[in-house]
Amino acid sequence: MCGIIGYIGSNESSSVLVSGLKNLEYRGYDSAGVALVNGDVDVHKQEGTIDGLTVPSDPETTHGIGHTRWSTHGEPTDENAHPHTDCSGDVAVVHNGIISNYQELKAELSGHIFESDTDTEVIPHLLEEELARGADLRAAVTRVLDRLEGSFAIAATHADHEGIVVARHDSPLVIGHGDEGMYLGSDVTAFVEYTRQVSYLEDGDIAHLSADGIEIFNDGERVEREIQTVDWDADAAGKAGHDHYMHKEIHEQPHALRQTISGRVDELGGNADLDIDLDDDFLRTLDEIHVVACGTSHYAGLYMKELLESLVDVTVRVDLASEYEVYDGHDASQTLVVAVTQSGETADTLSAIRRAKASGMTSFAVTNTVGSTITREVDDSLFIKAGPEIGVAASKTFVSQVTTLALFTTYLGRLRGTLSAEDGADLVEHIRQLPNAVQSVLDAEPKIQRLAEQYVDSDAFFFIGRGLAYPVALESALKLKEISYVHAEGFAAGELKHGPLALVTENTPVLAFLNDAAAADDTVNNVKEVESRGAPVIGLSTPDETNSFCEHSIDVPELGRLEPLVANVALQLFAYHVADEMGRPIDKPRNLAKSVTVE
Ligand code: F6R
Repeated sequence: MCGIIGYIGSNESSSVLVSGLKNLEYRGYDSAGVALVNGDVDVHKQEGTIDGLTVPSDPETTHGIGHTRWSTHGEPTDENAHPHTDCSGDVAVVHNGIISNYQELKAELSGHIFESDTDTEVIPHLLEEELARGADLRAAVTRVLDRLEGSFAIAATHADHEGIVVARHDSPLVIGHGDEGMYLGSDVTAFVEYTRQVSYLEDGDIAHLSADGIEIFNDGERVEREIQTVDWDADAAGKAGHDHYMHKEIHEQPHALRQTISGRVDELGGNADLDIDLDDDFLRTLDEIHVVACGTSHYAGLYMKELLESLVDVTVRVDLASEYEVYDGHDASQTLVVAVTQSGETADTLSAIRRAKASGMTSFAVTNTVGSTITREVDDSLFIKAGPEIGVAASKTFVSQVTTLALFTTYLGRLRGTLSAEDGADLVEHIRQLPNAVQSVLDAEPKIQRLAEQYVDSDAFFFIGRGLAYPVALESALKLKEISYVHAEGFAAGELKHGPLALVTENTPVLAFLNDAAAADDTVNNVKEVESRGAPVIGLSTPDETNSFCEHSIDVPELGRLEPLVANVALQLFAYHVADEMGRPIDKPRNLAKSVTVE
């Protein structure tokens, strides 16, 4: 939710800023801007994506900051685009997050003229006052931060002060250490083509970046942050010949899954080898698991609940993070709270984890993002290792999340002694076969594309499934609606007759999960109900009699409890091709952003 970039070094800065903003566009894309600093501050910003922004290139200008916006306060307009400046035009600021007390601060800034409706704009004006009192840029930022409430990452620069000052409070900021200068970004993709040496700022850090390096302070004390080498390379963040990132990411799934699984599968023992530091005794004896997550990650959590409750003797509660409450009388000391979040930055999920921790629960994160905020707040983290995902709609991260959670199910079940050796061996074997199974569904893309083209003009699409296929039905519907803007809903197959059947017509295709692990025989009855109302049905299952009577079928290889997950890949392709046929901006659906850092 909003992306920040900054560079100071020996190279011309505008191309670094523009390429960084392109890589960050998945965080927001309703307006973009840069401030180039070279004796004065030259701001270029406008509504729309970075492609529409003209930024002059000057080899002498080797210092600047930039921003791509997902609006919270104020509509997407040229005026509301970042960077924001003070009255003199010498200070420029970019910001990710929300300043909750901006109205009070604005009221205190008498005599200042504001040009935008944003919360951000108070920051350059507050800095202007501090600088006028004689503070240098770092001291001014430090004093202004004391007055700000909310969550933010900011970068500030000034015509007459050397360097860029950045601050982190609840929103991510990563520093890149390059041979030709220093970089900053909301995440590593902002500058990974220039350097893979990074350090992650902590909450409360205020850092001064100059061409020679960085000085970091926290609570007034000089601190050091470890420099790490990230294994994401620049190619992984590019489109590699695909029309859209999402298409590339769907096709990367066999590779992503191999990374997720690599070194973690103990075939002989029917177990998972996971690097988990939580206390084994606690895991053996805990009574309950609470999963908190949003959107697609919430559906991954629902998939794990089905696995855990059917295979391991543990009660699992899965909550939308924004709805999560901890009730009195609950034994927090015997509860593990698990945050599932690919970004590790989702504000609703962070807030739910904080509530759980405050009640005394042990906390655990399953995430794709090393160094993300969630990983610093929880007791332990497990990484899904899917690699960077740029398309706003999650695809490979969902499949890697579920796979990681299936590994966790195996690990926990074997640790507690409640997962039988046979079930453990089955699950592990199916996890091992996943990359090839997913590849076989990807190979069926031409057929799936033809189905998408045939039904693109439908009034709505319904996805039905039971058991393990129910969360996948929800996820498939979410995918289609968010990238095509067509009405799509997922239902537990048995629920159709309790209301939604009224919506079914000959112009509402029904996509039915008929996998053995998802009570296919019962779902067959629901398929017959919709067929008799004229709805075309696309059945997904192993090629057998269950899908042979559907108007269309998509074959999914036999894969036990993971078969619905593989079926999901077919429906990612279906959603992609419906949206592509409609000419939608697939990687950047309207109104959405990949990392939702506001509650
Ligand atoms: C949908 C999608 C979102 C995210 C949700 C949580 O395709 O990507 O629903 O799953 O915003 O994001 P994370 O997993 O980063 O917490």
